[in-house]
Amino acid sequence: MRRADRHPSRRALLDATGAMVAVGLTAGCESHSARPDRRDAPVSATPVPPTGRHQAGVTLPQPAQHNLLAVVADVGADVAVGPLLAELGQAVARLTAGTDARLMGLPPGDLTVTIGVGPRLVRTAGPALPGAADLPRFSRERIAPQARGGDLLIQICASDALVLPVAAAALADRAGDRIRERWRQSGRRGANVPVAEGLSAPRNLLGFVDGIVGPNTTAEQQRDLWLTGPAPVAGGTIAVLRRMELDLTRFATLSVADQEAVVGRHRATGVPLSGGTAASDPDLGAKTPDGRYLIPADAHVRRAHSNVIGVGLMLRRSYSTDEPAPGLLFTSFQNDLRTFTKTLTHMDSSDALLGFTTTTASATFLILPGFDRRRPLGATLFP
Ligand code: HEM
Repeated sequence: MRRADRHPSRRALLDATGAMVAVGLTAGCESHSARPDRRDAPVSATPVPPTGRHQAGVTLPQPAQHNLLAVVADVGADVAVGPLLAELGQAVARLTAGTDARLMGLPPGDLTVTIGVGPRLVRTAGPALPGAADLPRFSRERIAPQARGGDLLIQICASDALVLPVAAAALADRAGDRIRERWRQSGRRGANVPVAEGLSAPRNLLGFVDGIVGPNTTAEQQRDLWLTGPAPVAGGTIAVLRRMELDLTRFATLSVADQEAVVGRHRATGVPLSGGTAASDPDLGAKTPDGRYLIPADAHVRRAHSNVIGVGLMLRRSYSTDEPAPGLLFTSFQNDLRTFTKTLTHMDSSDALLGFTTTTASATFLILPGFDRRRPLGATLFP
């Protein structure tokens, strides 16, 4: 059963976090002199180690920070990619440790920076590597040329929203004229709703809890999230970013029951329309006494269900948007791009939720394997 054993034990979570903290402390110990005054602590002051087998900002921290800034850039044709990524990795270690003067003394708190490279760059490292394929086009897209694709993703997340543009400017400064920004997107997440032990998810602008189903256990993450090979990409993952405008006005004209039929879950609780708890797998075969599906044929959770499509689980870590329009910066991480493309293809034909969306930016990136002092960011791909 694909979804068995979804929830990691508290001990497993603590062990993983403890090990990463130890690594991170080693990475961030260059200088303590610039550490900000603890009295200035931001909303969450718990640092997230940037180093280890995987980059931070995918599974850690859990729950995800409330604020995001995603910057997508192109890399100049003649730029040496290896040194660029290595320098960015060093800058990330200093920013997250609070030892970078470019932070202007702001406490980084739980700042994470997650860096990915787009298909063009992956192809230069190996045309058959995971991450080398572009995203195809789908329906309901209105994407300006500069908001499609890109060479470099810098995903910055933190509890303190003020830190995001400062960290972005510091990284852009470090890269200099080697990169040219294409588009950027801010996002935020509301309060976390507990959905199972050790797992919570925020509501989106439609009022629904979003981010319940995914590879939440270590075993599921090994199977469906992290790349295990070939060696240059092991420990990385594939990201998909889709900025989706939402027609809030039209969705709000629906009754709550009709909204719930669109999604396939109860709005207040996140419980599937087939019953159980928010953590229960939707029972797609469950019917009313008069033979109608409890989860309608075009409900989002049915059309997007991994077993129906025959794909693995994707980790959705989306943020709601306000500018340039209300919507969602849909973000998924998976170890096979087809998990995303097959799911959206299956939804494209008849997903009731998609009719309320227009996609205005789209890109995929290979999230680089984790790094540390001995293994610079990107070194396995661009030695
Ligand atoms: C603005 C657009 C979208 C909104 C508002 C949205 C919202 C939701 C909500 C509320 C759920 C149910 C709770 C949960 O499991 O998290 C859900 C489930 C899900 N969504 Fe979306 N979603 C959107 C777009 C997408 C896209 C583009 C994809 C992928 C192509 C996707 C894939 C999934 C998957 C795989 C599930 C879990 C389904 C299951 O197995 O129960 N969603 N989404």
